[in-house]
Amino acid sequence: MDSHKQLFIFLCYSLVLVHLSGLEVEASRHLKHHPSKELFIFGDSYVDAGNTPKSDLGPWKKPYGITFPGKPAGRFSDGRVLSDFIAKYLGLRSPIPHKFRNIVPKNYLKYGMNFAYGGTGVFDTSISGPNLTTQINSFNQLVQEHVYTQSDITKSIAYVSVAGNDYSHYLATNGSIQGFPSFIASVVKQTTTNLVQLQKLGFKRIVVGALQPLGCLPSATAQTSFRSCDNTSSDLVALHNNLLNQSVTKLNQDTNDHTTFAILDIFDSFTSVLNNPSSHNITERFKPCCFGVSSEYNCGSVDENNVKKYLVCENPESTFFWDRSHPTQAAWNAVYNDLKTKSLGQILY
Ligand SMILES: *[C@@H]1O[C@H](CO)[C@@H](O)[C@H](O)[C@H]1NC(C)=O
Ligand SMILES: *[C@@H]1O[C@H](CO)[C@@H](O)[C@H](O)[C@H]1NC(C)=O
Ligand SMILES: *[C@@H]1O[C@H](CO)[C@@H](O)[C@H](O)[C@H]1NC(C)=O
Ligand SMILES: *[C@@H]1O[C@H](CO)[C@@H](O)[C@H](O)[C@H]1NC(C)=O
Ligand SMILES: *[C@@H]1O[C@H](CO)[C@@H](O)[C@H](O)[C@H]1NC(C)=O
Repeated sequence: MDSHKQLFIFLCYSLVLVHLSGLEVEASRHLKHHPSKELFIFGDSYVDAGNTPKSDLGPWKKPYGITFPGKPAGRFSDGRVLSDFIAKYLGLRSPIPHKFRNIVPKNYLKYGMNFAYGGTGVFDTSISGPNLTTQINSFNQLVQEHVYTQSDITKSIAYVSVAGNDYSHYLATNGSIQGFPSFIASVVKQTTTNLVQLQKLGFKRIVVGALQPLGCLPSATAQTSFRSCDNTSSDLVALHNNLLNQSVTKLNQDTNDHTTFAILDIFDSFTSVLNNPSSHNITERFKPCCFGVSSEYNCGSVDENNVKKYLVCENPESTFFWDRSHPTQAAWNAVYNDLKTKSLGQILY
């Protein structure tokens, strides 16, 4: 049981604060085709661009953000995260974190909004941040306030990244492997309920990320000195992804156009990049770039005298993982490039 707990202790950082400079993600060529499309982001640290508050853990601390924007900005990475790359593909400025909606210039809101909050899941986790339902309710609140209109929503994309933290929380608080399959079923069921909630709000394009290969995260591979993915969790991840596929397929069958819902297969793209890292200029697959000097410390930890208790690699641009649970900007870029050669064009439009 302990080894399984260790396997799954990931993503449970409390995220942290933001820098407006962290929002400056370049728009790209697609912009002309979809001038009024907006992007709404929900979920966890893989897409959080700064909603998590400053705290003694997480990415408002050095060395988070060293690659982009050059200082800690609330992203769980050295730089950009998945939501930034999705926005880039759509030709949009990365959507403003919900937390900053009242302090940024109003024209920032027209690219959509990011409600994601590191450490959260579909169910409540050890992080006190808003679960997926609460994040969607915050969006609905803005619709009630006429910040976003039905015609905005109809043209928009909703992206959802969840479940990793539900599983780490389950193991941290219960640990029953026998109970896991039924817990996975309940996570997928709740995810489905939330996708329908988004559909009822008027979204015509709702994309949910597949669950990443949890056994490849440094939190799982530390046991083997980061030599290879730990395969003991792969059946669980496969079960989640299969149930999610069935559920999303069924949702589409029940809609008129059969195309409202889609899965972004980041599992497949993580696996592709990790199996063939050199084609993406990644030389370090499993060992995280930033890690604590001992197991009691994390990336970003300092002691009571403010002395660093972590080490940072020389080359985050050629390392896949940034910390125990999160990819580097280079890894997200590689995953994005892999997705572009596959399904991305059929999913984000
Ligand atoms: C989400 O959070 C809200 C507010 O804390 C809570 O009432 C609700 O039960 C939670 N939803 C789920 C599915 O856990
Ligand atoms: C713990 O696991 C058991 C199954 O072994 C399940 O019945 C129970 O609901 C779980 N408890 C929690 C808090 O998840
Ligand atoms: C884990 O699974 C992958 C793919 O199935 C395989 O290539 C690899 O050797 C396995 N690792 C271990 C440690 O068994
Ligand atoms: C479900 O999986 C099948 C087989 O891989 C795939 O063709 C299909 O597109 C998937 N469905 C969704 C909604 O992603
Ligand atoms: C890898 O690095 C080489 C040399 O710097 C560069 O020419 C190439 O475009 C890079 N490839 C990728 C996929 O980033």
